[in-house]
Amino acid sequence: EVETSKTTRWKGKKVLITAGPTRETVDPVRYFTNYSSGKMGYALAQAAMENGAEVILVSGPTTIKPPVNVTLINVTTAAEMFEQVKKYYKEMDVIIKSAAVADYRPIMTYEHKMKKQKGPLSIEMERTTDILQYVGEHKTTQYVVGFAAETQEIEEYGRQKMNKKNLDAIVVNDIGKEGIGFRSDINEVKFMTKDGEEQAIEQATKKNIAKQIIQLIDVELRKDA
Ligand code: CTP
Ligand code: CA
Repeated sequence: EVETSKTTRWKGKKVLITAGPTRETVDPVRYFTNYSSGKMGYALAQAAMENGAEVILVSGPTTIKPPVNVTLINVTTAAEMFEQVKKYYKEMDVIIKSAAVADYRPIMTYEHKMKKQKGPLSIEMERTTDILQYVGEHKTTQYVVGFAAETQEIEEYGRQKMNKKNLDAIVVNDIGKEGIGFRSDINEVKFMTKDGEEQAIEQATKKNIAKQIIQLIDVELRKDA
């Protein structure tokens, strides 16, 4: 465990963080989701709060305990997460999108439990809104940080996402590596900025990595100021 070291460096700053997976309903007993635990996002919320920031944490379904002194908003679907982000992003200083948002949702949600039938089943899916893309396109002074989950060509794909979504920085995650990342307590990431800065963050607990990410964002904010 990392010791809690409170500072007031981000006093007066408003920070929006999204975390966890989303859950897209098929019928009353079934849904699509992913392996995101929410741990990275919750650790970021805690680290930002310990820096003195006012933190709003928009979270998909997780089983982890929310940090104290953070405003937690629970959502289920990508559409609900988008609604909350749209509500708050304008007044934020920093936005960090660590949520693993579903890219697709079933076109139809069935009111009653689907009954099994002979032969295979196809479920038609449609795209969800890319929340981060929306924020990147509409941002004014907010410092916007995305996450990228990749299994190959990590940095190249990460940089492409940062450019395409008009981000200030991106945290790239190799989710193909055994034992780290999704579902794990530890992670190993790379922080890349639009100005071409690259900082590898070595394997550590998500709490520790979160502190380092917040620290790196702080450095960038001071440059812009
Ligand atoms: N993201 C989002 N809304 C979506 C999908 C993704 O806000 N509907 C955000 C995630 O929160 C993350 C970033 O976009 O910060 C990158 O997510 P990722 O899944 O790695 O990339 P995608 O852009 O969805 O591309 P792909 O899944 O095809 O690699
Ligand atoms: Ca995706």
